[in-house]
Amino acid sequence: MELKLRCIDCGRETGPVVTYRCECGGLLEVSLDLKELKEVVSRELFDTRLNMGKFPYQSGVWRFRELVHPLLNDFEIVSRPEGNTNLYHHKALANFTGIEKILLKHEGENPTGSFKDRGMTVGISEANRLGMRVVGCASTGNTSASLASYAGLSNMKSIVFIPEGKIAFGKLSQALAYGARVLQINGNFDDAMSLVQEASERLGIYLLNSINPFRIQGQKTIIFELIQQLNWKPPDWIVVPAGNLGNTSAFGKAIYELKKLRLIEKTPRIAAIQAEGANPFYRLWKNKLKELKPLKKPETIATAIRIGNPVSWKRALRAIELTDGVVEQVTDQEIMDAKAIVDSSGIGCEPASAASVAGARKLLENGIIEKDDVVVCIITGHILKDPDSTINYHLSRLDNVKPRFANMPVKIEPNINLVKRYL
Ligand code: F0G
Repeated sequence: MELKLRCIDCGRETGPVVTYRCECGGLLEVSLDLKELKEVVSRELFDTRLNMGKFPYQSGVWRFRELVHPLLNDFEIVSRPEGNTNLYHHKALANFTGIEKILLKHEGENPTGSFKDRGMTVGISEANRLGMRVVGCASTGNTSASLASYAGLSNMKSIVFIPEGKIAFGKLSQALAYGARVLQINGNFDDAMSLVQEASERLGIYLLNSINPFRIQGQKTIIFELIQQLNWKPPDWIVVPAGNLGNTSAFGKAIYELKKLRLIEKTPRIAAIQAEGANPFYRLWKNKLKELKPLKKPETIATAIRIGNPVSWKRALRAIELTDGVVEQVTDQEIMDAKAIVDSSGIGCEPASAASVAGARKLLENGIIEKDDVVVCIITGHILKDPDSTINYHLSRLDNVKPRFANMPVKIEPNINLVKRYL
C-alpha cells in the first residue's frame, strides 16, 4: 500500500520522510490511495474489530489502521490504547442549548485525558519507525502531557515548550511526572511554537505538533469512531473547539475520505468555535479575508485555545468550505456557563471543551443549527485538567465571569441539625 506526503499549497508529493513543510513552505498532509483502499476497507471490517482484544485493534485509532498509517508493522505501534470514548446525552444539555438531539463525545476519556492521544499514538509510532530518539512540541498543555507519556512508553527523550504561567496545572503536572524536559518560555504559545519549529530544524528534534501530518491522521479517528457509533449515519453537525486548528483540519480530511470511500452518504457540517479573545480564524472566516491575521495578545480563560497564530488555518479553512461549515466565537462567560452545565450533568470537561457546547447554543440562537438537528459536540479535555478554573468559578473568584450556576461549598459546625438544613 502506498503513502505519500503532499503539499497542501502546491501539490508536490514526497515519500514518508522526516519533513513537515514543502520546499514552497506549505504544510504537508498524508495522501492515501483511496481507490486502492476502497477495495480493502468497509463498514463490516471496522465493525468486526469492535470489542476485539487483539493488539492493536482494541484502540479506537488503530481499529482504522488502513486509513491512519497503513505502512506500520504491529511492532512499531506505540498504543495505550486510545479512543473508544463515549457519547453522552443529558436533558440539561438539551434544555441549555435548545437542541433536542445533542450528544457529547468525550475525548477527555483518552489515556492522558485529552484527544491529543489519538494523534500522538500515530506521531510517536512514526517516530519509532523512523528511528527518532528525541521528540518535542510546543503546547498549551495537553499536547505536552500526551507527548511526555508516549515518549516515556517508547523510551524516547521528550522536550516540551510551554508558555510560562499560562498552562493549567493538571497538564503541567503530567508533563513533569511523565519525565519530559519542560522549557517554560517567557512568551505565549505562538512564541513557543516558532521556537520549537526552529529547534526541530536546527537541533534534529522530531516535531510532534499538529503541523506533523501523522498527528492529523490519528485525530481523524474521532470522526471515524463517532460515525461508527451512530451506525454510520453522520450527524447534521459536528461542533469542535478551535485553537491551533489541528482538529478542524483532521475532521475535514476524515469526512472527505469517508465520502470518497463511500462509507458515508451525507456530509456532516463542521462548526469550529473560537474564544472571543483568541479568534483569528473566526475573523478570517467572518470577513472573508485571504490570509489569516495573527493576534498578538490572545486572551481567554480557556488556556488550551489561547492561540493567536494557528499554524493549520489553511487546512482548517478547507475543511470548513468542504463541509459547508461555519466558524463562531463565544465569550469566556458563555464558555464557563456551558462548562457548569456539562459538569453538573455529571460529564465534566475543561474550559476549552465547553466552547463547543456554548457554540452549539449560539448557533441555534442565530438560526444556523435547527432544534431537530443531530448535533455532536466534541469534548476535548477532562475536567481534572484545570481544577483552578472550576474552583474559581464556583467560589466567584473570576474577574470577568459571573458564576451564574455556582455551587458554593458551605462551612458548618459538626451538628446534625445543621446538616438537615442543607438536605
Ligand atoms: N481543546 C483542548 C482541550 C485543547 O487542548 C486544544 C488544543 C484544543 C481544544 C484546540 O484544538 O488546536 O486542534 O484546534 N491544545 C493544543 C495543546 C494547542 O498544545 O495542547 P486545535
